[in-house]
Amino acid sequence: MATLTDRTFRDLADLMHSLVGLSFADSKKHLVSSRLSLRIQKLGLDGFEDYLALISDEQNSSEFQVAVDLLTTNETYFFREPAHYSLLEAELGRGPQRPLALWSAASSFGDEAYSTAMLLSDMQQRGRIGNDWSILGTDISDRVLQAASNAVYPDERLRDVSPERLKRYCLRGEGESEGLVQMNPHLRKRVRFGWLNLCQPFEELGPFDAIFLRNVLIYFDPPTKSEVVDRVLTKLRPGGLFFLGTAEGRVPCKMPLKTLAPGAFRKLDSTGT
Ligand SMILES: C[S@@+](CC[C@H](N)C(=O)[O-])C[C@H]1O[C@@H](n2cnc3c(N)ncnc32)[C@H](O)[C@@H]1O
Repeated sequence: MATLTDRTFRDLADLMHSLVGLSFADSKKHLVSSRLSLRIQKLGLDGFEDYLALISDEQNSSEFQVAVDLLTTNETYFFREPAHYSLLEAELGRGPQRPLALWSAASSFGDEAYSTAMLLSDMQQRGRIGNDWSILGTDISDRVLQAASNAVYPDERLRDVSPERLKRYCLRGEGESEGLVQMNPHLRKRVRFGWLNLCQPFEELGPFDAIFLRNVLIYFDPPTKSEVVDRVLTKLRPGGLFFLGTAEGRVPCKMPLKTLAPGAFRKLDSTGT
């Protein structure tokens, strides 16, 4: 079994930090080693040094993505942190109707984006919002984005979806697909997915009326967290809603925010209202 030396661990950690913002303190050496060693074995490489060379090679960006996937978690499920969806519903239902654009900024498999689509579709049917709305999901992992576009989920991940919504928005698999559900075409055409690295500048996006940036900042060090939050907030309209994972607290940022609830904020305009 290959050994991860301190030197190679640091080089790996520096690479991950410079390209995708992931931050690994020395205490994470064991975790990094155990998450990558099976992959190294599977590829028939001699050790971590060879693996580092492989993922540093820009021609081999797909293996770099595999490494990012192994070092992060894609855990997500429908209607995670339900209070955020209740708040979104209350806030979007206020005021005059206008086109709405929402962004799930570390979407993983798309559970957050489709949960939001179910909510907005319900609101549209009740006449609380207009019919011009859309949701963008982005992530750094091609693997999760491919799954998000297919929109097929183990039904266990939809445990917090009400029976009415399951009936309205999901197609149940039969036979070999027993235990799987797929989002229906009506919902899927409202949601699109694309690749985006939150730690690099991005331009052609937004503006959005609400942004979810939940459960991704945990991977970043404090300066990167603030940088990412400020970059993401440039894409939120003044008055728009911003959601972080409730466990992530409030991240220091330049943009003025008003706290509405744990992990939920409103972006203030230049007059502070
Ligand atoms: C735990 S999931 C969060 C999913 C969803 N937002 C939620 O709260 O349920 C974290 C996601 O962040 C993505 N991620 C990690 N670093 C990223 C980066 N630099 N840019 C964009 N996405 C990133 C991972 O690929 C993963 O899918």
